[in-house]
Amino acid sequence: MSTVSAPIDVTSTPAWAALQKHYDELTAAGVDLKGWFAADADRVSKLSYDMGEFHIDLSKNLVTDETMKLLVDLGRAVGLEERRDAMYQGVHINTTEDRAVLHTALRRPATDAGKFIVDGQDTVADVHEVLERMYAFAEKVRSGEWKGVTGKKIEHVMSIGIGGSDLGPVMVYEALKPYADAGIDCRYVSNIDPNDMAEKVKGLDPETTLVIVVSKTFTTLETLTNAREAKTWLLETLKASGAIDGSDEQNAEAIKKHFVAVSTALDLVADFGIDPENAFGFWSWVGGRYSVDSAVGLSLIVAFGPEQFENFLKGFHDVDMYFQNTPLEENVVALMGLMNVWYVNFFGAKSHAVLPYNQYLHRFAAYLQQLTMESNGKSVRWDGTPVTTATGEIFWGEPGTNGQHAFYQLIHQGTQLIPADFIAFVNTPNPTKDGDQDVHELFLGNFLAQTKALAFGKTADEVRAEGTAEWMVPARVFTGNRPSTSIFGIDLTPYAVGALIALYEHITFVEGTVWGLDSYDQWGVELGKQLAKQITPAFHDDEALDVQDASTKALINFYRANRR
Ligand code: F6P
Repeated sequence: MSTVSAPIDVTSTPAWAALQKHYDELTAAGVDLKGWFAADADRVSKLSYDMGEFHIDLSKNLVTDETMKLLVDLGRAVGLEERRDAMYQGVHINTTEDRAVLHTALRRPATDAGKFIVDGQDTVADVHEVLERMYAFAEKVRSGEWKGVTGKKIEHVMSIGIGGSDLGPVMVYEALKPYADAGIDCRYVSNIDPNDMAEKVKGLDPETTLVIVVSKTFTTLETLTNAREAKTWLLETLKASGAIDGSDEQNAEAIKKHFVAVSTALDLVADFGIDPENAFGFWSWVGGRYSVDSAVGLSLIVAFGPEQFENFLKGFHDVDMYFQNTPLEENVVALMGLMNVWYVNFFGAKSHAVLPYNQYLHRFAAYLQQLTMESNGKSVRWDGTPVTTATGEIFWGEPGTNGQHAFYQLIHQGTQLIPADFIAFVNTPNPTKDGDQDVHELFLGNFLAQTKALAFGKTADEVRAEGTAEWMVPARVFTGNRPSTSIFGIDLTPYAVGALIALYEHITFVEGTVWGLDSYDQWGVELGKQLAKQITPAFHDDEALDVQDASTKALINFYRANRR
Protein backbone atom coordinates (compact mmCIF):
# COMPACT_ATOMS: atom_id res chain seq x y z
CA MET A 1 0.00 0.00 0.00
CA SER A 2 1.26 3.44 -0.88
CA THR A 3 2.41 5.96 1.70
CA VAL A 4 0.04 8.58 0.28
CA SER A 5 -2.55 9.42 2.92
CA ALA A 6 -6.22 8.67 2.35
CA PRO A 7 -8.13 11.30 0.39
CA ILE A 8 -10.10 13.86 2.31
CA ASP A 9 -13.81 13.52 1.67
CA VAL A 10 -14.44 16.90 0.10
CA THR A 11 -18.17 16.72 0.85
CA SER A 12 -17.51 16.55 4.58
CA THR A 13 -15.39 19.71 4.69
CA PRO A 14 -16.71 23.05 5.99
CA ALA A 15 -15.58 24.55 2.68
CA TRP A 16 -18.00 22.28 0.81
CA ALA A 17 -20.84 23.19 3.17
CA ALA A 18 -20.05 26.87 2.67
CA LEU A 19 -20.10 26.44 -1.10
CA GLN A 20 -23.42 24.59 -0.93
CA LYS A 21 -24.95 27.41 1.12
CA HIS A 22 -23.51 29.97 -1.28
CA TYR A 23 -24.89 28.04 -4.27
CA ASP A 24 -28.34 27.87 -2.67
CA GLU A 25 -28.35 31.60 -1.99
CA LEU A 26 -27.00 32.50 -5.40
CA THR A 27 -29.54 30.43 -7.28
CA ALA A 28 -32.38 31.55 -5.02
CA ALA A 29 -31.51 35.18 -5.77
CA GLY A 30 -31.08 34.28 -9.44
CA VAL A 31 -27.86 33.86 -11.37
CA ASP A 32 -27.57 37.13 -13.26
CA LEU A 33 -24.45 37.78 -15.31
CA LYS A 34 -25.93 40.93 -16.80
CA GLY A 35 -26.68 42.29 -13.34
CA TRP A 36 -23.32 41.23 -11.95
CA PHE A 37 -21.49 42.99 -14.78
CA ALA A 38 -23.59 46.12 -14.27
CA ALA A 39 -23.03 46.14 -10.52
CA ASP A 40 -19.28 45.72 -10.59
CA ALA A 41 -17.19 47.78 -12.97
CA ASP A 42 -14.12 45.80 -11.92
CA ARG A 43 -15.59 42.37 -12.57
CA VAL A 44 -13.64 41.79 -15.76
CA SER A 45 -10.32 42.97 -14.37
CA LYS A 46 -10.82 40.95 -11.19
CA LEU A 47 -11.60 37.79 -13.15
CA SER A 48 -8.98 38.17 -15.89
CA TYR A 49 -5.58 36.51 -15.63
CA ASP A 50 -2.39 36.54 -17.62
CA MET A 51 -0.69 33.19 -17.80
CA GLY A 52 2.42 33.67 -19.92
CA GLU A 53 1.21 34.72 -23.36
CA PHE A 54 -2.38 33.77 -22.64
CA HIS A 55 -4.98 36.22 -21.44
CA ILE A 56 -7.74 34.25 -19.73
CA ASP A 57 -11.08 35.84 -18.99
CA LEU A 58 -13.25 34.02 -16.44
CA SER A 59 -15.71 36.90 -16.03
CA LYS A 60 -18.47 35.24 -18.10
CA ASN A 61 -18.65 32.36 -15.63
CA LEU A 62 -21.38 31.87 -13.04
CA VAL A 63 -19.22 33.07 -10.20
CA THR A 64 -18.99 36.01 -7.84
CA ASP A 65 -16.08 37.21 -5.69
CA GLU A 66 -17.50 35.05 -2.94
CA THR A 67 -17.61 31.96 -5.19
CA MET A 68 -13.96 32.36 -6.09
CA LYS A 69 -12.96 32.74 -2.46
CA LEU A 70 -14.95 29.65 -1.46
CA LEU A 71 -13.48 27.62 -4.33
CA VAL A 72 -9.99 28.48 -3.15
CA ASP A 73 -11.00 27.41 0.35
CA LEU A 74 -12.21 24.13 -1.14
CA GLY A 75 -8.87 23.58 -2.84
CA ARG A 76 -7.04 24.22 0.41
CA ALA A 77 -9.43 21.95 2.33
CA VAL A 78 -8.39 18.97 0.20
CA GLY A 79 -4.68 19.82 0.36
CA LEU A 80 -4.39 20.85 -3.29
CA GLU A 81 -1.09 22.68 -2.85
CA GLU A 82 0.50 19.84 -0.89
CA ARG A 83 -0.57 17.24 -3.44
CA ARG A 84 0.69 19.41 -6.30
CA ASP A 85 4.08 19.70 -4.59
CA ALA A 86 4.10 15.96 -3.89
CA MET A 87 3.48 15.30 -7.59
CA TYR A 88 6.30 17.62 -8.66
CA GLN A 89 8.66 15.93 -6.17
CA GLY A 90 7.96 12.41 -7.43
CA VAL A 91 5.86 11.02 -4.57
CA HIS A 92 3.99 7.93 -5.78
CA ILE A 93 0.62 9.65 -6.07
CA ASN A 94 -0.41 7.09 -8.68
CA THR A 95 -1.33 4.73 -5.86
CA THR A 96 -2.93 1.86 -7.76
CA GLU A 97 0.18 1.46 -9.90
CA ASP A 98 2.55 2.61 -7.12
CA ARG A 99 4.22 5.11 -9.44
CA ALA A 100 5.48 8.65 -9.37
CA VAL A 101 3.70 11.09 -11.69
CA LEU A 102 6.41 13.19 -13.23
CA HIS A 103 5.40 14.56 -16.60
CA THR A 104 6.61 17.89 -15.19
CA ALA A 105 10.17 16.43 -15.23
CA LEU A 106 9.92 15.97 -19.01
CA ARG A 107 10.08 19.71 -19.53
CA ARG A 108 12.53 20.82 -16.87
CA PRO A 109 15.65 22.55 -18.18
CA ALA A 110 18.91 20.59 -18.24
CA THR A 111 20.14 22.82 -15.41
CA ASP A 112 17.70 20.96 -13.13
CA ALA A 113 19.73 17.76 -13.54
CA GLY A 114 20.62 16.35 -10.14
CA LYS A 115 17.73 18.14 -8.40
CA PHE A 116 14.96 15.60 -8.99
CA ILE A 117 16.28 12.21 -8.00
CA VAL A 118 13.28 9.91 -7.77
CA ASP A 119 13.54 6.26 -6.78
CA GLY A 120 17.27 6.54 -7.38
CA GLN A 121 16.89 8.00 -10.88
CA ASP A 122 18.13 11.43 -11.93
CA THR A 123 14.95 12.11 -13.87
CA VAL A 124 15.96 15.36 -15.53
CA ALA A 125 19.40 14.08 -16.58
CA ASP A 126 17.76 11.00 -18.15
CA VAL A 127 15.16 13.13 -19.93
CA HIS A 128 17.87 15.29 -21.49
CA GLU A 129 19.96 12.32 -22.49
CA VAL A 130 17.03 10.97 -24.54
CA LEU A 131 16.20 14.42 -25.89
CA GLU A 132 19.75 14.86 -27.17
CA ARG A 133 19.63 11.46 -28.89
CA MET A 134 16.29 12.31 -30.47
CA TYR A 135 17.52 15.70 -31.62
CA ALA A 136 20.59 14.14 -33.25
CA PHE A 137 18.45 11.49 -34.95
CA ALA A 138 15.86 14.02 -36.12
CA GLU A 139 18.53 16.34 -37.53
CA LYS A 140 19.91 13.47 -39.59
CA VAL A 141 16.47 12.65 -40.95
CA ARG A 142 15.63 16.28 -41.65
CA SER A 143 18.91 17.02 -43.40
CA GLY A 144 18.81 13.89 -45.54
CA GLU A 145 21.93 12.44 -43.91
CA TRP A 146 19.71 9.55 -42.75
CA LYS A 147 18.82 7.65 -45.88
CA GLY A 148 16.36 4.90 -46.62
CA VAL A 149 17.54 1.49 -47.76
CA THR A 150 17.80 2.66 -51.38
CA GLY A 151 19.66 5.84 -50.47
CA LYS A 152 16.73 8.25 -50.64
CA LYS A 153 15.88 11.05 -48.20
CA ILE A 154 12.93 10.47 -45.84
CA GLU A 155 9.86 12.46 -46.91
CA HIS A 156 7.11 10.78 -44.90
CA VAL A 157 6.77 9.63 -41.32
CA MET A 158 4.19 7.03 -40.43
CA SER A 159 3.73 7.09 -36.66
CA ILE A 160 1.92 4.04 -35.28
CA GLY A 161 0.43 4.23 -31.79
CA ILE A 162 -2.90 4.59 -30.02
CA GLY A 163 -4.38 6.58 -27.12
CA GLY A 164 -1.65 8.60 -25.47
CA SER A 165 0.84 7.29 -28.02
CA ASP A 166 -1.19 8.85 -30.81
CA LEU A 167 -3.67 11.56 -29.79
CA GLY A 168 -1.05 14.00 -28.49
CA PRO A 169 1.31 13.69 -31.47
CA VAL A 170 -1.56 13.97 -34.00
CA MET A 171 -3.09 16.94 -32.26
CA VAL A 172 0.21 18.81 -32.04
CA TYR A 173 1.23 17.90 -35.59
CA GLU A 174 -2.03 19.32 -36.88
CA ALA A 175 -1.78 22.37 -34.60
CA LEU A 176 1.71 23.27 -35.78
CA LYS A 177 1.55 22.38 -39.47
CA PRO A 178 2.88 25.79 -40.54
CA TYR A 179 6.12 24.92 -38.70
CA ALA A 180 6.81 21.78 -40.78
CA ASP A 181 9.89 23.06 -42.61
CA ALA A 182 11.85 20.00 -43.70
CA GLY A 183 9.62 18.67 -46.45
CA ILE A 184 8.54 15.78 -44.23
CA ASP A 185 4.88 15.04 -43.67
CA CYS A 186 3.52 12.82 -40.91
CA ARG A 187 0.66 10.36 -40.96
CA TYR A 188 -0.68 8.68 -37.87
CA VAL A 189 -2.11 5.17 -37.79
CA SER A 190 -3.96 4.20 -34.63
CA ASN A 191 -7.09 2.14 -35.22
CA ILE A 192 -6.84 -1.62 -35.56
CA ASP A 193 -9.56 -1.27 -38.19
CA PRO A 194 -7.65 -2.21 -41.37
CA ASN A 195 -9.27 0.77 -43.07
CA ASP A 196 -7.02 3.12 -41.13
CA MET A 197 -3.78 1.57 -42.37
CA ALA A 198 -5.19 1.05 -45.86
CA GLU A 199 -5.94 4.75 -46.24
CA LYS A 200 -2.74 5.96 -44.59
CA VAL A 201 -0.37 3.96 -46.84
CA LYS A 202 -2.09 5.21 -49.98
CA GLY A 203 0.42 7.11 -52.06
CA LEU A 204 3.28 6.35 -49.67
CA ASP A 205 6.61 5.31 -51.12
CA PRO A 206 8.33 2.92 -48.70
CA GLU A 207 11.72 4.06 -49.97
CA THR A 208 11.10 7.51 -48.48
CA THR A 209 9.00 6.49 -45.45
CA LEU A 210 10.14 6.25 -41.84
CA VAL A 211 7.88 4.23 -39.53
CA ILE A 212 7.87 5.19 -35.84
CA VAL A 213 6.24 2.60 -33.60
CA VAL A 214 5.11 4.31 -30.39
CA SER A 215 3.91 2.28 -27.44
CA LYS A 216 4.64 2.81 -23.78
CA THR A 217 4.15 -0.87 -22.98
CA PHE A 218 4.94 -2.28 -26.43
CA THR A 219 2.19 -4.82 -25.81
CA THR A 220 -0.81 -2.92 -27.14
CA LEU A 221 -2.79 -5.08 -29.55
CA GLU A 222 -3.66 -2.34 -32.02
CA THR A 223 -0.17 -0.91 -32.22
CA LEU A 224 1.64 -4.21 -32.54
CA THR A 225 -0.82 -5.46 -35.15
CA ASN A 226 -0.42 -2.26 -37.16
CA ALA A 227 3.36 -2.33 -36.74
CA ARG A 228 3.51 -5.89 -38.12
CA GLU A 229 1.27 -4.83 -41.00
CA ALA A 230 3.50 -1.86 -41.72
CA LYS A 231 6.53 -4.15 -41.69
CA THR A 232 4.89 -6.49 -44.17
CA TRP A 233 3.81 -3.57 -46.38
CA LEU A 234 7.28 -2.06 -46.36
CA LEU A 235 9.17 -5.28 -47.10
CA GLU A 236 6.72 -6.57 -49.69
CA THR A 237 6.46 -3.27 -51.54
CA LEU A 238 10.23 -2.82 -51.58
CA LYS A 239 10.65 -6.35 -52.87
CA ALA A 240 7.95 -5.96 -55.52
CA SER A 241 9.69 -2.89 -56.92
CA GLY A 242 13.03 -4.65 -56.93
CA ALA A 243 14.45 -2.29 -54.31
CA ILE A 244 15.43 -5.25 -52.12
CA ASP A 245 15.70 -8.95 -52.92
CA GLY A 246 13.71 -10.20 -49.93
CA SER A 247 16.66 -11.97 -48.32
CA ASP A 248 16.86 -11.94 -44.52
CA GLU A 249 19.87 -9.72 -44.75
CA GLN A 250 18.24 -7.09 -46.95
CA ASN A 251 15.01 -7.26 -44.99
CA ALA A 252 16.92 -6.58 -41.78
CA GLU A 253 18.72 -3.67 -43.42
CA ALA A 254 15.40 -2.22 -44.62
CA ILE A 255 13.90 -2.48 -41.11
CA LYS A 256 16.97 -0.81 -39.68
CA LYS A 257 16.66 2.14 -42.06
CA HIS A 258 12.89 2.52 -41.94
CA PHE A 259 11.72 1.48 -38.45
CA VAL A 260 12.36 3.22 -35.15
CA ALA A 261 10.52 2.80 -31.86
CA VAL A 262 9.51 4.73 -28.77
CA SER A 263 8.75 2.79 -25.61
CA THR A 264 9.44 2.19 -21.94
CA ALA A 265 9.93 -1.52 -22.78
CA LEU A 266 13.11 -1.46 -24.85
CA ASP A 267 13.55 -5.25 -24.53
CA LEU A 268 10.24 -5.79 -26.32
CA VAL A 269 11.30 -3.32 -29.03
CA ALA A 270 14.37 -5.46 -29.69
CA ASP A 271 12.22 -8.61 -29.77
CA PHE A 272 10.11 -6.96 -32.47
CA GLY A 273 13.22 -6.65 -34.62
CA ILE A 274 13.92 -2.94 -34.24
CA ASP A 275 17.56 -2.04 -33.68
CA PRO A 276 18.01 -0.83 -30.05
CA GLU A 277 20.16 1.95 -31.55
CA ASN A 278 16.95 3.23 -33.13
CA ALA A 279 14.83 3.09 -29.98
CA PHE A 280 14.03 5.99 -27.70
CA GLY A 281 12.92 5.39 -24.16
CA PHE A 282 10.76 6.98 -21.53
CA TRP A 283 9.72 5.88 -18.07
CA SER A 284 6.89 4.40 -16.06
CA TRP A 285 6.36 7.75 -14.32
CA VAL A 286 5.08 9.26 -17.58
CA GLY A 287 1.41 8.43 -18.07
CA GLY A 288 0.46 7.67 -21.69
CA ARG A 289 -1.90 10.64 -21.92
CA TYR A 290 0.77 12.89 -20.37
CA SER A 291 3.52 11.78 -22.74
CA VAL A 292 3.42 13.92 -25.88
CA ASP A 293 6.40 15.89 -24.59
CA SER A 294 8.47 12.72 -24.08
CA ALA A 295 9.98 10.52 -26.81
CA VAL A 296 6.35 9.93 -27.83
CA GLY A 297 6.66 13.27 -29.63
CA LEU A 298 9.52 12.02 -31.87
CA SER A 299 7.50 12.54 -35.06
CA LEU A 300 7.08 16.19 -34.03
CA ILE A 301 10.83 16.67 -33.64
CA VAL A 302 11.35 15.20 -37.09
CA ALA A 303 8.65 17.40 -38.63
CA PHE A 304 9.37 20.68 -36.82
CA GLY A 305 12.97 20.37 -35.64
CA PRO A 306 14.64 20.34 -32.23
CA GLU A 307 14.48 24.10 -31.76
CA GLN A 308 10.71 24.19 -32.04
CA PHE A 309 10.42 21.17 -29.75
CA GLU A 310 12.47 23.07 -27.19
CA ASN A 311 10.01 25.98 -27.48
CA PHE A 312 7.17 23.50 -27.04
CA LEU A 313 8.77 22.15 -23.83
CA LYS A 314 9.34 25.69 -22.58
CA GLY A 315 5.63 26.40 -22.95
CA PHE A 316 4.83 23.44 -20.71
CA HIS A 317 7.50 24.28 -18.18
CA ASP A 318 6.44 27.90 -17.80
CA VAL A 319 2.90 26.78 -16.98
CA ASP A 320 4.24 24.15 -14.56
CA MET A 321 6.14 26.88 -12.75
CA TYR A 322 3.16 29.23 -12.83
CA PHE A 323 0.91 26.53 -11.37
CA GLN A 324 3.44 25.74 -8.68
CA ASN A 325 4.36 29.29 -7.69
CA THR A 326 1.19 31.35 -8.02
CA PRO A 327 -1.03 31.64 -4.93
CA LEU A 328 -4.31 29.83 -5.47
CA GLU A 329 -6.28 33.11 -5.34
CA GLU A 330 -4.47 34.32 -8.48
CA ASN A 331 -3.73 30.95 -10.05
CA VAL A 332 -5.92 30.69 -13.13
CA VAL A 333 -4.93 27.05 -13.67
CA ALA A 334 -6.17 26.07 -10.21
CA LEU A 335 -9.20 28.36 -10.51
CA MET A 336 -10.27 26.80 -13.81
CA GLY A 337 -10.07 23.33 -12.27
CA LEU A 338 -12.00 24.44 -9.20
CA MET A 339 -14.61 26.15 -11.35
CA ASN A 340 -15.15 22.91 -13.23
CA VAL A 341 -15.86 21.25 -9.88
CA TRP A 342 -18.32 24.07 -9.14
CA TYR A 343 -20.21 23.31 -12.34
CA VAL A 344 -20.14 19.51 -12.01
CA ASN A 345 -20.98 19.21 -8.33
CA PHE A 346 -23.24 22.19 -7.73
CA PHE A 347 -24.82 23.00 -11.09
CA GLY A 348 -24.95 19.35 -12.16
CA ALA A 349 -23.07 19.93 -15.43
CA LYS A 350 -22.29 16.69 -17.22
CA SER A 351 -20.22 17.94 -20.10
CA HIS A 352 -17.77 20.64 -21.02
CA ALA A 353 -17.36 22.09 -24.49
CA VAL A 354 -13.93 23.04 -25.80
CA LEU A 355 -14.24 25.33 -28.78
CA PRO A 356 -11.01 26.35 -30.47
CA TYR A 357 -11.40 29.29 -32.83
CA ASN A 358 -8.45 27.98 -34.79
CA GLN A 359 -8.73 25.31 -37.44
CA TYR A 360 -5.25 24.02 -36.67
CA LEU A 361 -6.59 22.89 -33.28
CA HIS A 362 -9.18 20.63 -34.86
CA ARG A 363 -7.95 17.57 -32.90
CA PHE A 364 -7.69 19.39 -29.58
CA ALA A 365 -11.02 18.17 -28.19
CA ALA A 366 -10.21 14.56 -29.14
CA TYR A 367 -6.88 14.89 -27.37
CA LEU A 368 -8.53 16.39 -24.29
CA GLN A 369 -11.05 13.57 -24.17
CA GLN A 370 -8.37 11.06 -23.29
CA LEU A 371 -6.53 13.46 -21.00
CA THR A 372 -9.56 14.35 -18.95
CA MET A 373 -11.87 11.35 -19.22
CA GLU A 374 -9.29 8.59 -18.84
CA SER A 375 -7.93 10.55 -15.89
CA ASN A 376 -11.10 11.47 -14.03
CA GLY A 377 -13.77 9.02 -15.26
CA LYS A 378 -13.72 7.08 -11.99
CA SER A 379 -16.02 6.00 -9.17
CA VAL A 380 -13.36 4.91 -6.72
CA ARG A 381 -10.86 7.12 -4.91
CA TRP A 382 -7.09 6.67 -4.67
CA ASP A 383 -7.40 4.50 -1.55
CA GLY A 384 -9.99 2.19 -3.12
CA THR A 385 -13.01 3.73 -1.36
CA PRO A 386 -16.03 4.94 -3.32
CA VAL A 387 -16.21 8.55 -4.45
CA THR A 388 -18.48 10.80 -2.42
CA THR A 389 -19.78 12.99 -5.21
CA ALA A 390 -20.15 13.14 -8.98
CA THR A 391 -16.83 13.02 -10.84
CA GLY A 392 -15.64 13.53 -14.39
CA GLU A 393 -16.88 15.62 -17.26
CA ILE A 394 -17.50 14.69 -20.87
CA PHE A 395 -15.20 16.93 -22.89
CA TRP A 396 -16.17 17.53 -26.47
CA GLY A 397 -16.03 20.13 -29.18
CA GLU A 398 -15.18 21.19 -32.68
CA PRO A 399 -13.47 24.25 -34.01
CA GLY A 400 -15.58 27.38 -34.37
CA THR A 401 -17.32 28.37 -36.62
CA ASN A 402 -18.13 24.81 -37.70
CA GLY A 403 -19.56 24.05 -34.28
CA GLN A 404 -21.80 27.13 -34.50
CA HIS A 405 -23.59 25.57 -37.44
CA ALA A 406 -23.91 22.22 -35.70
CA PHE A 407 -24.37 21.93 -31.94
CA TYR A 408 -24.32 25.50 -30.56
CA GLN A 409 -28.12 25.52 -30.66
CA LEU A 410 -28.12 23.13 -27.70
CA ILE A 411 -25.55 25.19 -25.80
CA HIS A 412 -27.54 28.40 -26.32
CA GLN A 413 -31.08 27.19 -25.84
CA GLY A 414 -31.01 23.60 -24.60
CA THR A 415 -31.96 22.46 -21.11
CA GLN A 416 -28.44 21.50 -20.09
CA LEU A 417 -25.81 23.77 -18.62
CA ILE A 418 -22.63 23.30 -20.64
CA PRO A 419 -19.60 25.32 -19.55
CA ALA A 420 -17.57 26.18 -22.64
CA ASP A 421 -13.90 27.06 -23.09
CA PHE A 422 -13.26 29.26 -26.12
CA ILE A 423 -9.67 29.26 -27.37
CA ALA A 424 -8.54 31.88 -29.89
CA PHE A 425 -5.40 33.64 -31.07
CA VAL A 426 -4.84 37.27 -31.98
CA ASN A 427 -2.79 36.47 -35.08
CA THR A 428 -3.04 33.98 -37.90
CA PRO A 429 -0.27 32.61 -40.11
CA ASN A 430 -2.72 32.93 -43.02
CA PRO A 431 -3.91 36.56 -43.14
CA THR A 432 -6.61 36.92 -45.77
CA LYS A 433 -8.86 39.70 -47.03
CA ASP A 434 -12.34 39.34 -48.46
CA GLY A 435 -12.56 42.71 -50.18
CA ASP A 436 -11.83 45.13 -47.34
CA GLN A 437 -12.76 42.63 -44.66
CA ASP A 438 -9.96 40.94 -42.74
CA VAL A 439 -11.22 37.35 -42.61
CA HIS A 440 -9.42 36.52 -39.35
CA GLU A 441 -11.19 39.47 -37.70
CA LEU A 442 -14.48 38.18 -39.05
CA PHE A 443 -13.62 34.85 -37.44
CA LEU A 444 -12.65 36.43 -34.11
CA GLY A 445 -15.83 38.49 -34.21
CA ASN A 446 -17.71 35.19 -34.18
CA PHE A 447 -15.77 33.95 -31.15
CA LEU A 448 -16.63 37.10 -29.18
CA ALA A 449 -20.22 37.10 -30.39
CA GLN A 450 -20.78 33.58 -29.15
CA THR A 451 -19.41 34.22 -25.66
CA LYS A 452 -21.50 37.39 -25.47
CA ALA A 453 -24.68 35.66 -26.59
CA LEU A 454 -24.13 32.85 -24.09
CA ALA A 455 -23.54 35.22 -21.20
CA PHE A 456 -26.09 37.94 -21.81
CA GLY A 457 -28.68 36.33 -24.05
CA LYS A 458 -31.60 38.16 -25.57
CA THR A 459 -34.76 39.05 -23.64
CA ALA A 460 -38.34 38.60 -24.75
CA ASP A 461 -38.68 42.39 -24.99
CA GLU A 462 -35.67 42.59 -27.27
CA VAL A 463 -37.18 39.88 -29.45
CA ARG A 464 -40.56 41.66 -29.53
CA ALA A 465 -38.86 44.91 -30.47
CA GLU A 466 -37.75 43.21 -33.68
CA GLY A 467 -41.40 42.73 -34.63
CA THR A 468 -41.58 39.03 -33.85
CA ALA A 469 -45.07 37.55 -33.58
CA GLU A 470 -45.93 36.96 -29.92
CA TRP A 471 -46.35 33.19 -30.17
CA MET A 472 -42.85 32.94 -31.64
CA VAL A 473 -41.15 35.08 -29.04
CA PRO A 474 -40.21 32.24 -26.62
CA ALA A 475 -38.46 30.31 -29.39
CA ARG A 476 -36.26 33.33 -30.05
CA VAL A 477 -35.38 34.20 -26.48
CA PHE A 478 -31.86 33.48 -25.25
CA THR A 479 -31.76 33.07 -21.50
CA GLY A 480 -28.10 34.02 -21.18
CA ASN A 481 -26.26 33.05 -17.98
CA ARG A 482 -24.51 30.26 -19.89
CA PRO A 483 -20.93 30.12 -18.72
CA SER A 484 -17.86 30.47 -20.86
CA THR A 485 -14.14 31.03 -20.41
CA SER A 486 -12.14 32.89 -23.03
CA ILE A 487 -8.55 31.74 -23.50
CA PHE A 488 -6.93 34.29 -25.79
CA GLY A 489 -3.41 33.69 -27.07
CA ILE A 490 -1.22 35.77 -29.34
CA ASP A 491 0.03 33.19 -31.87
CA LEU A 492 -0.44 29.44 -32.12
CA THR A 493 3.25 28.66 -31.68
CA PRO A 494 4.95 25.53 -30.32
CA TYR A 495 5.37 27.46 -27.07
CA ALA A 496 1.63 28.22 -26.93
CA VAL A 497 0.61 24.63 -27.66
CA GLY A 498 2.88 23.38 -24.87
CA ALA A 499 1.37 25.92 -22.49
CA LEU A 500 -2.18 25.01 -23.49
CA ILE A 501 -1.58 21.30 -22.92
CA ALA A 502 0.02 21.94 -19.52
CA LEU A 503 -2.94 24.13 -18.58
CA TYR A 504 -5.39 21.29 -19.17
CA GLU A 505 -3.10 18.67 -17.60
CA HIS A 506 -3.13 20.66 -14.38
CA ILE A 507 -6.85 21.47 -14.57
CA THR A 508 -7.39 17.71 -14.74
CA PHE A 509 -5.13 17.25 -11.71
CA VAL A 510 -7.03 19.87 -9.71
CA GLU A 511 -10.39 18.23 -10.39
CA GLY A 512 -9.01 14.78 -9.60
CA THR A 513 -7.55 16.02 -6.34
CA VAL A 514 -10.83 17.51 -5.16
CA TRP A 515 -12.62 14.27 -5.99
CA GLY A 516 -9.92 12.12 -4.35
CA LEU A 517 -9.07 10.31 -7.59
CA ASP A 518 -5.91 8.68 -8.82
CA SER A 519 -6.00 10.55 -12.12
CA TYR A 520 -3.06 8.56 -13.44
CA ASP A 521 -4.37 5.00 -13.71
CA GLN A 522 -6.89 3.67 -16.26
CA TRP A 523 -8.23 0.33 -15.09
CA GLY A 524 -11.50 1.03 -16.85
CA VAL A 525 -9.99 0.15 -20.21
CA GLU A 526 -8.81 -3.31 -19.21
CA LEU A 527 -11.97 -5.43 -19.18
CA GLY A 528 -12.79 -4.75 -22.82
CA LYS A 529 -9.25 -5.70 -23.82
CA GLN A 530 -9.55 -9.04 -21.97
CA LEU A 531 -12.95 -9.80 -23.41
CA ALA A 532 -11.86 -8.98 -26.97
CA LYS A 533 -9.23 -11.71 -26.68
CA GLN A 534 -11.80 -14.15 -25.44
CA ILE A 535 -14.50 -13.25 -27.99
CA THR A 536 -12.47 -12.94 -31.21
CA PRO A 537 -12.04 -16.74 -31.70
CA ALA A 538 -15.85 -17.11 -31.58
CA PHE A 539 -16.15 -15.76 -35.13
CA HIS A 540 -14.91 -19.19 -36.24
CA ASP A 541 -14.89 -21.48 -33.25
CA ASP A 542 -18.17 -23.00 -31.99
CA GLU A 543 -16.85 -23.77 -28.55
CA ALA A 544 -15.80 -20.17 -28.07
CA LEU A 545 -19.21 -19.09 -29.37
CA ASP A 546 -21.08 -21.35 -26.96
CA VAL A 547 -19.72 -19.61 -23.87
CA GLN A 548 -20.82 -16.14 -24.96
CA ASP A 549 -23.91 -14.36 -23.63
CA ALA A 550 -27.05 -14.46 -25.75
CA SER A 551 -26.66 -11.01 -27.27
CA THR A 552 -23.01 -11.51 -28.23
CA LYS A 553 -23.91 -14.91 -29.68
CA ALA A 554 -26.67 -13.44 -31.81
CA LEU A 555 -24.40 -10.70 -33.13
CA ILE A 556 -21.69 -13.22 -34.02
CA ASN A 557 -24.29 -15.39 -35.74
CA PHE A 558 -25.33 -12.38 -37.82
CA TYR A 559 -21.68 -11.94 -38.76
CA ARG A 560 -21.31 -15.61 -39.65
CA ALA A 561 -24.45 -15.55 -41.79
CA ASN A 562 -23.31 -12.53 -43.78
CA ARG A 563 -19.54 -12.68 -44.06
CA ARG A 564 -18.05 -13.07 -47.55
O1 F6P B 1 -5.97 1.45 -23.31
C1 F6P B 1 -5.59 2.66 -22.78
C2 F6P B 1 -4.12 2.87 -22.83
O2 F6P B 1 -3.50 2.11 -21.86
C3 F6P B 1 -3.80 4.34 -22.71
O3 F6P B 1 -3.75 4.78 -21.42
C4 F6P B 1 -2.54 4.45 -23.46
O4 F6P B 1 -2.27 5.77 -23.79
C5 F6P B 1 -2.85 3.57 -24.64
O5 F6P B 1 -3.57 2.50 -24.09
C6 F6P B 1 -1.69 3.08 -25.43
O6 F6P B 1 -0.80 2.32 -24.66
P1 F6P B 1 0.67 2.04 -25.14
O7 F6P B 1 1.36 3.35 -25.30
O8 F6P B 1 1.27 1.20 -24.06
O9 F6P B 1 0.61 1.31 -26.44
